[in-house]
Amino acid sequence: MSVANATSRPGAPRNDMKLELQNLSVTYASRNGDVRAVRDCSFVVSRGDVVGLVGESGSGKTSALMAIPRLLPRGTIVTGRVVCDGQDIASLREELLNAWRWRRIALVPQGASASFTPHISIGGHITEVLAFHMNLTGADAKTRAVELLRTVGLEETFFGRYPHELSGGQKQRAALATALACGPDFLLADEPTTALDVVTQKEVLDMIVSLVRSRGMGLLLVTHDLPLAAGLCDKLVVMREGAVVESGASREVVENPQSPFTRNLIDALRRMESADALTGEGS
Ligand SMILES: Nc1ncnc2c1ncn2[C@@H]1O[C@H](COP(=O)(O)OP(=O)(O)OP(=O)(O)O)[C@@H](O)[C@H]1O
Ligand SMILES: [Mg+2]
Repeated sequence: MSVANATSRPGAPRNDMKLELQNLSVTYASRNGDVRAVRDCSFVVSRGDVVGLVGESGSGKTSALMAIPRLLPRGTIVTGRVVCDGQDIASLREELLNAWRWRRIALVPQGASASFTPHISIGGHITEVLAFHMNLTGADAKTRAVELLRTVGLEETFFGRYPHELSGGQKQRAALATALACGPDFLLADEPTTALDVVTQKEVLDMIVSLVRSRGMGLLLVTHDLPLAAGLCDKLVVMREGAVVESGASREVVENPQSPFTRNLIDALRRMESADALTGEGS
C-alpha cells in the first residue's frame, strides 16, 4: 500500500499503518513451573490485510493475540515489542494503552459469546464501550449502537435483548458489533466461530472479512483450521509449540510450504480430502 494514500491528519487512519509483533515471548508462571507459550514470535498485520494465525491447539495463538492489547493474566511475563503505527504499545502505561484498546485495536476474544455480562443488555454492552472510549452517551450512543447492530445483521430489537435471549451466532455478531464500536484500525478475532454450526460459521466469518475489507481495517484471525484460513486470508502465520514456523501469502504457504510441519499438515489435509472424495463426504 503506498504512502501516498496516507492522510496527514494526526490520529487519522492511514492505509500504510502496521501492527507488528517483534520477537514477542509470553511466559506464564504456573504452579508446575513456567510455561513458555510464545517464543520469539515476529509477524506483521498491515491495515487492509486479512492475516490468519493458525496452529494446533496449545500452539500459543491466543497467548500471542492477547499479548497485543496486553490482556494476559497478571504475573505473565511478556518480552519483545508490539508496535502499532510506529508506537511500542507493549511498554505503554495502562492508562495510555486504554486509548489504543477498542479505538485502534479491538478484540473478539475466544469464547466471546460467553463473555457478555448476563444482566446487561446487548445495547448496554455496546453503549458502555461508546461511553468509556468515545465519550458518546444518551440518544447519540443508542443511535450508533443500533447502527452497529444493523451492520452485523441484527435488527434494532436486539438493542434491548439480554445475552441469554440470543443464539450463539447472534451473540458472535453482537460481539463483533461491540468490537467495531470505536471504528478500530485492527481487529483481533480469536476462533470467532468455533462454537457455531458450519453454515453459521461461514456466514459470520464471511461477514467479518467483508466488514474488515470494506473498512480497510487489518484483521488477525486466529483459527486452527488451516484450509478455512487459506480460503479467507491474504496471509498466513503458522505457529507450532509457541514459535512461528511459517509465514507468507496464503497461496504460497499452501502450494509451497517451507517448514516440514506445515508440509505434513497440508499433506494430511490433502489425504483427508481425497478420502472424502472417495467416500463422497465433505462435498
Ligand atoms: N493462564 C495460563 N497459565 C499457564 N499456562 C497457560 C495459560 N494459558 C495458556 N497456557 C498454556 O500456554 C500454551 C498456549 O496456550 P494458548 O491458549 O495460547 O494456545 P492456543 O493455540 O490458543 O490453543 P487453542 O487452539 O486450544 O485455543 C498451552 O500450553 C497452554 O496450556
Ligand atoms: Mg486459543
